[in-house]
Amino acid sequence: MTTPPTLRKTALITGASAGIGRDYARYLAAEGYDLILTARRKARLEEVGRELTAAFGTQVTVLAADLTDPGASAKLADEIAKRDLQVDYLVNNAGYQVTGYFDQVRWDVHRDMMQIMMTAVAELCHIFGPTMVTRGFGRIVNIASVAAFVPGQAGGALYPSVKAFVLRFSQSLATEYHAAGVNVVAVCPGFTWSEFHDIAGNRAQMNKLPSFMWLDGPRVVAEAHHAVEAGRGPVVINGWVYKVLTTLIKIVPDNWIGRLAARSKRNANVRPENVRPENVRPEDASTPPQPAVPSRKSARKKPATRKTVAKSPGKSPAKSPPKSPAKSNETAKRRVKTGNRTRKKTDNG
Ligand SMILES: NC(=O)c1ccc[n+]([C@@H]2O[C@H](COP(=O)([O-])OP(=O)(O)OC[C@H]3O[C@@H](n4cnc5c(N)ncnc54)[C@H](OP(=O)(O)O)[C@@H]3O)[C@@H](O)[C@H]2O)c1
Repeated sequence: MTTPPTLRKTALITGASAGIGRDYARYLAAEGYDLILTARRKARLEEVGRELTAAFGTQVTVLAADLTDPGASAKLADEIAKRDLQVDYLVNNAGYQVTGYFDQVRWDVHRDMMQIMMTAVAELCHIFGPTMVTRGFGRIVNIASVAAFVPGQAGGALYPSVKAFVLRFSQSLATEYHAAGVNVVAVCPGFTWSEFHDIAGNRAQMNKLPSFMWLDGPRVVAEAHHAVEAGRGPVVINGWVYKVLTTLIKIVPDNWIGRLAARSKRNANVRPENVRPENVRPEDASTPPQPAVPSRKSARKKPATRKTVAKSPGKSPAKSPPKSPAKSNETAKRRVKTGNRTRKKTDNG
């Protein structure tokens, strides 16, 4: 005897342990969805699950996973199939920003970021999209960013690149699924209160931005949900500030914006654990600690320069000898400024 189809639909949300993903879980639970929540911090996911089960009677399945693992999406799909669950609504949200100049950050750090924010996004759509098409119903929300519209930035070079990928990929998928009852949107928030900038290590500097630049997670989520439900989009830009900014970006020539972006140091500090060892001179290990974030004033005085100094305590890469003396000389001028080591875990920083 086959099980009768449930009337409740199920949403899979990546990065549901914090920020926008957790807000999405709360929103969809209130809308009557059951949930499959994933992220690395299982205890956090379980806490969210307990809250939503108590508040809305939501059936919550927690599947902890590290999406930087290339096999994680397939393992998630297996676990979901084993539990006889189906995914009607997919929210590809998990992500973070890696700060620092491109060649001063270790390659595996860049590779992991591309894995979680491009490959896993596409792979989860590839896994769950076809069954949505077969059922004639599906919702796919890919969280991009207004960074997707920015033609380059100094520091964190891959972030606008991966978000541009998410944007274009979502547009293409929306076109392919248009007639199949599967709605796809790319959501482009600007600065949003979450743990994002704590993880990036630039919270202190970001908090100096005016309040009108900041969005609330629940608002981002509500706009995303209304758009995907209505089949609008496929690009959703959150907040009037960012609607105006992205319109301007489209009007102003890319090369002009690129020149402006080259002067910004906002994302130039490398987190110590991400520093590429051969770019740090051994003598820099004894350099006194530098402030994690340059003041706006000092950033204005001196345009962006790569002559910064390393501080690398603990098992820092600065203690490893450079790979070769020749390389060391070559890279001597490119010293790395390290930032705040603390992974502060506060919401609404
Ligand atoms: N906040 C902003 O200003 C802003 C603006 C535009 C776009 N966005 C985008 O919005 C999305 C959500 O960010 P947020 O602001 O909500 O940041 P957040 O509060 O830091 O949340 C990020 C989520 O991603 C999960 N995650 C991180 N690394 C992971 C990994 N290796 N495997 C699985 N899950 C992982 C985290 O969970 P665990 O640590 O438990 O794994 C967490 O649940 C991101 O794609 C971000 O690029 C944010």
